[in-house]
Amino acid sequence: MSVDQKMDSSRRTLLLATSAAGGVAAVATAVPFVASLTPSERAKAAGAPVEADVSKLKPGEMMTVEWRGKPVWILRRTPEMLASLDKTDEKVSDPNSVKPQQPEYAKNKHRSIKPEYLVTVGICTHLGCSPSEKFKVGADSGMGADWPGGFLCPCHGSIFDLAGRVYSSMPAPDNLEVPPHQYLADTKILVGDDGKA
Ligand code: FES
Repeated sequence: MSVDQKMDSSRRTLLLATSAAGGVAAVATAVPFVASLTPSERAKAAGAPVEADVSKLKPGEMMTVEWRGKPVWILRRTPEMLASLDKTDEKVSDPNSVKPQQPEYAKNKHRSIKPEYLVTVGICTHLGCSPSEKFKVGADSGMGADWPGGFLCPCHGSIFDLAGRVYSSMPAPDNLEVPPHQYLADTKILVGDDGKA
């Protein structure tokens, strides 16, 4: 067994032992784990902004980047997807994004800087499950004949439209969070920093 393999297996044993031992032990191992990261990995773990190249994203497709340990979705909406927001306006609880849970530039119907791209944290605002994409419309979606596309949280059934706006009377109290972000170029998004801090 090589030295690297030995280190790997001993670290694995340590991780297994500490995760079995519970939260206190996990905190105790946090420092050595962080110390073992490279400087750029350390910065990432601490919440450094993340660049996303959306040049390959086709209309209707979604990609995920990780920021501060959270999944951040970037959905490139088609004109039909954007038009669906007119239909869901009256069904969602905060259609104009009045609640203070997104930056100023996302306080609009599409909740984004550019209408085409939705950038949102893919974590349900109820108890933190990850909603599933339900982009098919109509009966094929399994969500009902009048389903206009959106997201479904499988845990307790909260539904969100294609701007991450939660439907009224759902367990989730709020829309999906829009993280700070900015465009570095036409197809390059910096998630985690909008240059306003
Ligand atoms: S965690 Fe999403 S509905 Fe409960």
